[in-house]
Amino acid sequence: MGRGVNVAVGLAGALLILTLLLLTFVSLPIARTDAAGPSQPIAFSHKIHAGQFKIDCQYCHSDARRSEYAGIPSVTRCMGCHRITAADKPEIKKLAEYLGKQEPVPWARVYKVPEYVYFAHKPHIRGGVTCQNCHGQVQEMDVVTAKTGQSLFNDIVNLAGLFPAPPPLTMGWCVECHTAKKASVECTTCHH
Ligand code: HEC
Ligand code: HEC
Ligand code: HEC
Ligand code: HEC
Ligand code: HEC
Repeated sequence: MGRGVNVAVGLAGALLILTLLLLTFVSLPIARTDAAGPSQPIAFSHKIHAGQFKIDCQYCHSDARRSEYAGIPSVTRCMGCHRITAADKPEIKKLAEYLGKQEPVPWARVYKVPEYVYFAHKPHIRGGVTCQNCHGQVQEMDVVTAKTGQSLFNDIVNLAGLFPAPPPLTMGWCVECHTAKKASVECTTCHH
């Protein structure tokens, strides 16, 4: 025995390391995790608006309860406060320029499911699922960041035979909650 087992263990170890290295190279390019968040045309902070000043999420994202989209507030809605509030600040002057040009602010999109997936906000908001359930503690974020897609950490934990919670926006994530809340898990619910 003795020696044979040692060799086997050594080989298994080497194989595991090789697999992990391979996974690193395979998963890095497809990982969609974006820890820093995109750079936005105006330094808008949820921490100030939704955190410090407790403005309701749906005051700005008012389509969430009645449509597919949550919606991004118009410049006019922002200026409802900012004609006066902080009007002398450079970032607010930029905002006023968009209003002057009658152009929407070209905000960079953060959350996105692939084209072949059907998602709608309305049934979730009506079903009592909170924004934070899916988007995290947005009211504490200066920059909204989506930690989505495959990650090396998850791949390794999976490989070790444990099953970590699936990352947001993956199919496993949607299906896990649908199963827990007894919502539909039929393929055609999310794939038309
Ligand atoms: C004063 C208006 C305002 C309030 C209040 C507000 N938001 Fe936003 N939200 C915005 C704007 C403007 C953007 C686009 C810029 C950005 O991504 O930060 C945005 C972006 C987002 C995004 C990213 C959208 C994307 O591109 O995928 C999420 C998610 C979000 N908000 C959730 C929330 C939640 C949850 C709350 C409440 C805790 C909230 N928001 C409150 C104005 C607001
Ligand atoms: C209900 C009122 C309200 C609305 C609506 C609102 N804001 Fe604000 N905003 C505030 C308040 C209050 C502050 C904090 C001002 C201060 O600290 O002097 C602030 C601060 C800011 C600042 C930081 C200004 C600075 O440099 O000190 C930016 C940028 C900003 N808001 C952008 C926006 C944008 C973009 C929108 C629309 C998506 C928006 N705000 C909608 C109330 C509002
Ligand atoms: C069940 C999970 C879930 C809940 C609950 C949820 N969202 Fe979303 N949200 C998503 C997904 C998934 C996307 C990407 C949708 C797409 O690509 O079509 C998204 C996209 C967005 C966007 C950008 C695109 C758009 O729809 O305008 C904003 C803004 C947003 N959510 C805000 C909110 C706010 C505010 C709430 C609470 C009122 C909320 N979300 C609740 C999952 C959720
Ligand atoms: C945190 C929990 C949660 C997550 C995450 C979640 N959902 Fe849901 N979903 C629900 C609940 C609850 C309902 C409402 C069920 C009801 O009203 O009977 C629902 C309903 C739906 C419906 C409408 C179903 C119908 O029968 O009309 C669709 C479509 C849907 N979800 C798609 C998605 C997709 C796509 C994702 C992932 C991108 C997702 N959901 C993530 C909890 C969730
Ligand atoms: C509750 C929503 C939901 C349900 C139910 C659902 N899917 Fe998906 N599916 C998704 C989402 C979201 C993605 C995108 C995953 C990503 O981008 O990582 C996806 C991706 C896929 C893909 C692309 C490959 C992959 O895994 O990313 C296939 C194939 C697929 N689904 C098949 C199915 C089949 C077959 C069923 C029924 C047994 C089903 N789906 C049920 C939400 C769902």
